[in-house]
Amino acid sequence: MNKDFLISSDFSYAQLDSLLETAARYKTGASSSTPLAGKSVALVFFNPSLRTRASMQVGIYELGGNPVILEPGSTSWTLEHRDGVVMDGDKTEHLKEFVRVLERYVSAIGVRTFAEMKDWETERTDPILNAFERYAGVPIINLESAMHHPCQSLADMLTIREKLGAGRKRVVLTWAWHPKPLPMAVPNSFALAAAQMGHDLVIAHPPGYDLDEELIESLGESVEITNDIDSAFDGADVIYVKSWGSKQFYGNTDQDIATRAQYRSKWIVDEEKMSRTNDAIFMHCLPVRRNVIVTDGVIDSPASVVIDEAENRLHVQKAILARLLGG
Ligand code: CP
Repeated sequence: MNKDFLISSDFSYAQLDSLLETAARYKTGASSSTPLAGKSVALVFFNPSLRTRASMQVGIYELGGNPVILEPGSTSWTLEHRDGVVMDGDKTEHLKEFVRVLERYVSAIGVRTFAEMKDWETERTDPILNAFERYAGVPIINLESAMHHPCQSLADMLTIREKLGAGRKRVVLTWAWHPKPLPMAVPNSFALAAAQMGHDLVIAHPPGYDLDEELIESLGESVEITNDIDSAFDGADVIYVKSWGSKQFYGNTDQDIATRAQYRSKWIVDEEKMSRTNDAIFMHCLPVRRNVIVTDGVIDSPASVVIDEAENRLHVQKAILARLLGG
C-alpha cells in the first residue's frame, strides 16, 4: 500500500475494491474500529469546502482521532511552495518549514488546493500537492488538487456499486455550461476511477473542452469521447455531470466565458435527456448550480443520488484513513 493517497491510479483494482469494502462496513456499522486513537490529522484548506471539510473532520473523530484544521492565508500564514524563490512578496512561510513542523504534531496531512487556472502546463503537474508529498514523511491525502479529487471519485464508485451493483455499467461523464470556467479535478478523477473499476465510460463535452490528453490515454480502450450530448445519454446507467474550463483558455477566463456562451441552453442535464437513458441514476459531486448544470426536475427526482453520494465521502475517507494510519 502506498504511503500517500494522491490519485486512484496509484492503487490497483484489488486495493480500491478493498477500500470500497471497508467503506461499506463503516457505513453499515459492521466496523466501528478506532485506528486513529491518540492520533491527530491536519487538514489544510487553501480553498472553501463543505463536504470535504465536514466529512474529514467527522470521520477522523469517529475513528478516534483529532482533526486540526488549517487555512493558509486566513487562520495560518500564507505559504510559498516553489523552491529557490526570494520570498519578498506576499508569502510569509515556505511549505518546507510548514510541512516539517506540522508532521512533528500530526500523523497525516490532508490538503485541498484548487487549480488557479492561470498556467495549464504548470498546474497539470499538481505543483502544490507534490510539494507537500516531497517534504512530508507522514502520509499526504489529496482532498482535491489542481488535477485530481480521488476521495470524491472513490465515493462516486461506492455510490454506483450501492445503487446498481458491482458489474460493468454504461457511465456517462458530461460537461455542462457554467458561468465561469472551473477546475477539472473532479472529471479527471471520475474518469480515471470509472475506467479502473471496469465501467464503459462515455465522456461528452463541446469541442475544445477535452480533458488532459495523457489522462485520456491512460483510460485505455473502454472510453468513448463525443461532442454530442444527446446521443451520449442513450442507454446510460449513470449520468455524472460536471463543468470544467478549457485547457486552451487557462490564463484567459474572459475568452472561455465568451466561447462557452453558445452552449448555455444545450449543455444542461434535463428531463428530456434523462428520458434517453436506461433509467440512469443522476450524480454530481456538489455544490451544484440548479437550473444551470441540472434542472430542478432531475435533481429532485428519484433518479438523483447526490445526497447519498455526498454521504459516501465520509465512509470512503474513513476507509482511506484507516488503511494509511491503522497499521
Ligand atoms: N464535492 C466536494 O468536494 O465538496 P466540497 O467542495 O464542499 O468539499
